[in-house]
Amino acid sequence: MKQLIDNAITYVKNYFQNESSGHDYFHTLRVYKVGVSIAKKEQANIGIVALVALLHDVDDFKLSPNTSKNKDNARNFLLSNDVEEELIDLICNTIDEISYKGKDTKPATTLEGRIVQDADRLDALGAIGVARAFAYGGHHNRVMHDPDILPNQNMTEEEYRKHISTTINHFYEKLFNLKSLMNTGTGKLLAESRDNFMHEYINHFLSEWEGVI
Ligand code: ADP
Ligand code: NI
Repeated sequence: MKQLIDNAITYVKNYFQNESSGHDYFHTLRVYKVGVSIAKKEQANIGIVALVALLHDVDDFKLSPNTSKNKDNARNFLLSNDVEEELIDLICNTIDEISYKGKDTKPATTLEGRIVQDADRLDALGAIGVARAFAYGGHHNRVMHDPDILPNQNMTEEEYRKHISTTINHFYEKLFNLKSLMNTGTGKLLAESRDNFMHEYINHFLSEWEGVI
């Protein structure tokens, strides 16, 4: 298992070369580390959490639209490392379950999936979450904030994928909702403090925006 995890780390490092939109090698590495820490506290299967975390974004529809449906990249990596088919299916099904689908998002059916879901969401929160949101906005030429564009808080997966908004609205449309979607006790605890920090950050942002001194 240790060798397989090391190979997965090398694989994602290569896969995410030149990627700066917020889906990158270091995001994956953080999800892996936080996921394994939560797995230890929640007594889950650490190997599965590690592999699902490391491979969770290699078939994301934004970066790899053609492999997204069948998780071909994750599947081929695992096949070429002689992982048995049953385990490959479990890992790929779990990856499919954990992706964010607007208000259609459901908790994963396995504890390991719910843990990676928590670790992935935690990386969208806190100081890193703020930085990733603005990096994403810059990458997509979005404005930071426009008081005339109001947030849309009740989108389906389809609407969420097509939706173009400001980065500040993204906090209201997604990031402030994530705390209530955490699955595990450990995840909830970590989300609470990261969410508090983001609220404090946005309060500062909006008062500075108004030119209040
Ligand atoms: P993941 O696949 O890791 O669950 P996403 O693909 O939804 O997450 O987003 C990756 C990162 O980009 C997250 O930190 C998220 O907050 C940020 N992001 C996604 N959509 C937007 C947006 N419309 N505006 C600003 N940031 C965004
Ligand atoms: Ni992710």
